[in-house]
Amino acid sequence: MSTLCVDSVTVCRCRGLSVPVDGPVPWKRADHTGAKHDIYRRYLERWFPILLRGTNAYKSATYAEGFAGPGVYEDDHPGSPIIAIQALLEKVPNPDPIVKMIFIDDDVRCTEMLREQLTRRFPERPRSSEKLPIKIKNGTCAESPRTPTQFHERLGTANTRCARFLG
Ligand SMILES: C[S@@+](CC[C@H](N)C(=O)[O-])C[C@H]1O[C@@H](n2cnc3c(N)ncnc32)[C@H](O)[C@@H]1O
Repeated sequence: MSTLCVDSVTVCRCRGLSVPVDGPVPWKRADHTGAKHDIYRRYLERWFPILLRGTNAYKSATYAEGFAGPGVYEDDHPGSPIIAIQALLEKVPNPDPIVKMIFIDDDVRCTEMLREQLTRRFPERPRSSEKLPIKIKNGTCAESPRTPTQFHERLGTANTRCARFLG
């Protein structure tokens, strides 16, 4: 087993600086969020193929994102969970690898809207739920697991290759 850990520029939130949504959901996308999304997209479009394509490809991977948000911004800009799924589908056309996706947010409005967004943006499920299981969890990331082992225990992803995003 090996673990890929990628912490985004907003990693400070897991050290107790979490920012609850103050106002309606969804909200206007800030310029710095747009810049972060450009980085996410470009990064994931390169990492997913490294993990899941070619002769050294892994048979399965887990993508776990804390602070996932509602999946959409005002003016219909996609949020990071949508960007991640699009990157996977576009850059790993082979549907064989199992990619488990977990999205966590502590605001129930965000988790509900994320569920709606996934249904709206991917009306025909592009991969079976066995090949692309997606879990949306309403919960807090405040008590961050301290080690990769604790992280896997918490998510039930032992023995899988795992990317963590705190966004
Ligand atoms: C900036 S927004 C989400 C951005 C999203 N990752 C994106 O890029 O589209 C941050 C989210 O973190 C959630 N949040 C704040 N504190 C949290 C905590 N301690 N645990 C889980 N979610 C939290 C908020 O509800 C909000 O939806």
